[in-house]
Amino acid sequence: MGKALVQFTLFGLLLALATTLPNRGDWDIYSFHINSKVTSRYAITVITSRVVNRMDESKEIEFHVQIPKNAFISKFKIFINRKEYDGVVKAKEQAQQQYDAAVFRGESAGIVSSVGRTLEEFKTSVTVAPHKKITFELTYEELLKRRLGKYELQIHARPMQPVRDFKVDVHISEKAGISFLVIKGGLNTNALANAVTRTDADKEAWVYFYPSEDQQKMCDSCGDEGLNGDLVILYDVNRNNSLGDIEISNGYFVHHFAPSNLVRLSKNVVFVINQSGSMHGRKIEQTRIALIHILNDLAEDDYFGVISFDSNLFHWKRELVQATSANVDSAKIFAQNIKDRGATNINSAVLEGARMLNANPREGSASILILLTDGEPTTGVINLDKIQSNVKRAIAGKFPLYCLGFGFDVNFEFLESMALQNDGTARRIYEDADANLQLQGFYEEVATPLLTDVTMVYVGGTNLTQTNFSQYYNGSEIVVAGEITNNDIETFTPQVVAISSNTRMVFNNPNISLEPPETKSDRIQRVCAYLTVKQLMEKELQLSGPEKDNVKEEALRLSLKYNFVTPFTSMVVTKPTGDITDVHHKPKEGARSHHVQQNDDSHGSRGAHGESGQPGPPCIPGFSSNMFLVSHPDSQNDPLCLDVTGGLRLKLLHHPSRGLSVNGELDSGAGEYFSRIKIHLGPEDHVEIDTTGVTVRQDQATTHHNGQDTITIGSVTVIFRDKEIDVNAGDTRLVILIYERNGKKMFWPALRQRSQDPNIEGILVFQQVYRLVQIIPTTTILEIDGQYADVTRADAVDYSIVSTPTLSCWLVSSGSGLHRRLENFIVTEL
Ligand SMILES: *[C@@H]1O[C@H](CO)[C@@H](O)[C@H](O)[C@H]1NC(C)=O
Ligand SMILES: *[C@@H]1O[C@H](CO)[C@@H](O)[C@H](O)[C@H]1NC(C)=O
Ligand SMILES: *[C@@H]1O[C@H](CO)[C@@H](O)[C@H](O)[C@H]1NC(C)=O
Ligand SMILES: *[C@@H]1O[C@H](CO)[C@@H](O)[C@H](O)[C@H]1NC(C)=O
Ligand SMILES: *[C@@H]1O[C@H](CO)[C@@H](O)[C@H](O)[C@H]1NC(C)=O
Repeated sequence: MGKALVQFTLFGLLLALATTLPNRGDWDIYSFHINSKVTSRYAITVITSRVVNRMDESKEIEFHVQIPKNAFISKFKIFINRKEYDGVVKAKEQAQQQYDAAVFRGESAGIVSSVGRTLEEFKTSVTVAPHKKITFELTYEELLKRRLGKYELQIHARPMQPVRDFKVDVHISEKAGISFLVIKGGLNTNALANAVTRTDADKEAWVYFYPSEDQQKMCDSCGDEGLNGDLVILYDVNRNNSLGDIEISNGYFVHHFAPSNLVRLSKNVVFVINQSGSMHGRKIEQTRIALIHILNDLAEDDYFGVISFDSNLFHWKRELVQATSANVDSAKIFAQNIKDRGATNINSAVLEGARMLNANPREGSASILILLTDGEPTTGVINLDKIQSNVKRAIAGKFPLYCLGFGFDVNFEFLESMALQNDGTARRIYEDADANLQLQGFYEEVATPLLTDVTMVYVGGTNLTQTNFSQYYNGSEIVVAGEITNNDIETFTPQVVAISSNTRMVFNNPNISLEPPETKSDRIQRVCAYLTVKQLMEKELQLSGPEKDNVKEEALRLSLKYNFVTPFTSMVVTKPTGDITDVHHKPKEGARSHHVQQNDDSHGSRGAHGESGQPGPPCIPGFSSNMFLVSHPDSQNDPLCLDVTGGLRLKLLHHPSRGLSVNGELDSGAGEYFSRIKIHLGPEDHVEIDTTGVTVRQDQATTHHNGQDTITIGSVTVIFRDKEIDVNAGDTRLVILIYERNGKKMFWPALRQRSQDPNIEGILVFQQVYRLVQIIPTTTILEIDGQYADVTRADAVDYSIVSTPTLSCWLVSSGSGLHRRLENFIVTEL
């Protein structure tokens, strides 16, 4: 017994779909507009792209943009044939179910999620009929954060081809007046500079970027694919009033507090630096350069300490010392000698830093603890919760802890949650040529404390965002939002109380005008929601148990109410062609650039089904035979499935230009699963996987393989893991999932990334047509409208998705149309 699935009438169409992958030469972007409106630091950006399929056949057209990772997407629309299709924000789990179902039907075009330093991606594609037009419209919102005395609006333009009608329009409106505005970024250079125009008024500014088609090919980072770069607008506002700007509307308020006419506080700063083996080479060198630079910048009335650590602690001095030039010079020599060594004892190092600060209290100064590390604790106390509670106890709210995570081997979540628990923040330092500048830049942000113990008080205010801040630094800004009780402006009184060099300061302004704006808008309310969700995201990191769940629930409620795509929600895009669905998740910080292709569930199922790792196949009674499933483009009807014979050998994937060929043999009994898979990596070399183990044939030697490691032959890398074997051929990635059933191993191949190479073939390549699934027939017999005579209701389990979803299909008896097709993939030898 053994089964596979077929769908006759739509087979040709499905084949056509499978071969129409996006090919950018086939469509024209008529217009690409980016419109950004910033009002009181809240930026709402709309990207609109109008595209035509200029071929005589249907084409898949792609919309692919990058947006600031601090932003929340709030709208996505597709206009086609005068109809509008709106993306809907749903709870992540709910969206995930839809995604899984779509993936299962072979319909999803997949999600792309990756996070760069400042940008993340949004991508979708739609099949468009010949000579038809489609319009994509994406909206995202972001509260600009003040850093080093300026706000930064980053606009990334990469339409993927020169565009006749390309425009970026920015309008900034600030009630306090704009004190300066500069335009930077790769798109504001040389050939393109004259495409940028600006108009300034006192409280408003307009920036236009209208490059011609020729100019779009001329800039530094541009080419035949047109523009590729950023337009960055930096600006600041006037601060005539030390209480700052307060805006109110519809019973909500936002308060921006950033007084500048204050004296700097002297500071006590301790740098705790990991010098263990993983900091080897350039990282430790860049750390030294940054530290030396930072030491040079200390003011003479600052006190400081430097601790480097591996499994031991290395003090420069056991106590804080004043930053006299002699002391600074001596510390620089210590910094020069920081080397990469052995293991890491983060617990002792941070506790020691806290001890030094606690032991040297200085009235009227601001203390700061800065930890730099590039990995996880490996020695001493290594239990993360234990470290966090030790550190929290040692710091006891007396000063902030800032954690800098160098590179991607850090447990950034751990660092972030530890920093947040101690009034600080965490920052990732990217391993690039400018890492020392990133370190210095971070230090500069906290280099000039102006106030400590800042308490923002709002009589007549309610549902406030965070109101207590341990320190306020020159160049930054404190933002608080909330509601005005009963919208009673008369009683609403904002006030700030803080300490500056031992003096209690009160900031208020009886004359402040709290006039609601003439034009009604829900902007203030949205800022309030944006800020609340951001802070709930931080809170969630620090909590566990029911408290964490409550925070999540509140964040979800707000995200849904304001239509924000946040870590708690996803956007479900139903496409005009059939009921094809895309789900866009907000990618997670720290996720390395990572393209998710057709059928990839690594962001999908695994995330939604908890962190439990890879579940084994569920125990299903009546589990009997193996089948192939053909996706039906109409989700109203279930797909069809068809028996295949046990022992069948199939060509899974053949990628001639990479010298990669993968064949699989179905179990000789019922054909329930693959019992052997052979990966050919060249004429002589191969890897064979069967239920007894793995055999590697390389350089005329045969070895048996167990354990987890990596082999590379030619351009193909094979990585052995516990529950999967990852076959990576650059542009193509195949995963062989390993399941265990009744103590016996079974294998399931899944294509995670497919090449655009037209010569690539095999049954997995046609996954929009065939999907490999397991089928459990049930007793109900049904008929479908005469066209299919013999059909049985059956359930199918998709093992190419680790969550192994089950769905219903119509089992057709053998001898049907697909059988011949299937024969195309039959091989005689593995
Ligand atoms: C704020 O001060 C600047 C000079 O610092 C001045 O040009 C501007 O008019 C003032 N704005 C308001 C609203 O008072
Ligand atoms: C704060 O920064 C501004 C520039 O952004 C500078 O003019 C001012 O002097 C700084 N204040 C102190 C106390 O360093
Ligand atoms: C510092 O580097 C070590 C050694 O390679 C690394 O394993 C460790 O995780 C890092 N230490 C901390 C505290 O991150
Ligand atoms: C904020 O600080 C004030 C004064 O120091 C204190 O009374 C209040 O409890 C603090 N609130 C929170 C939420 O920590
Ligand atoms: C409020 O206005 C009065 C009268 O115009 C003025 O004397 C006073 O200095 C103002 N107070 C503040 C804090 O601006």
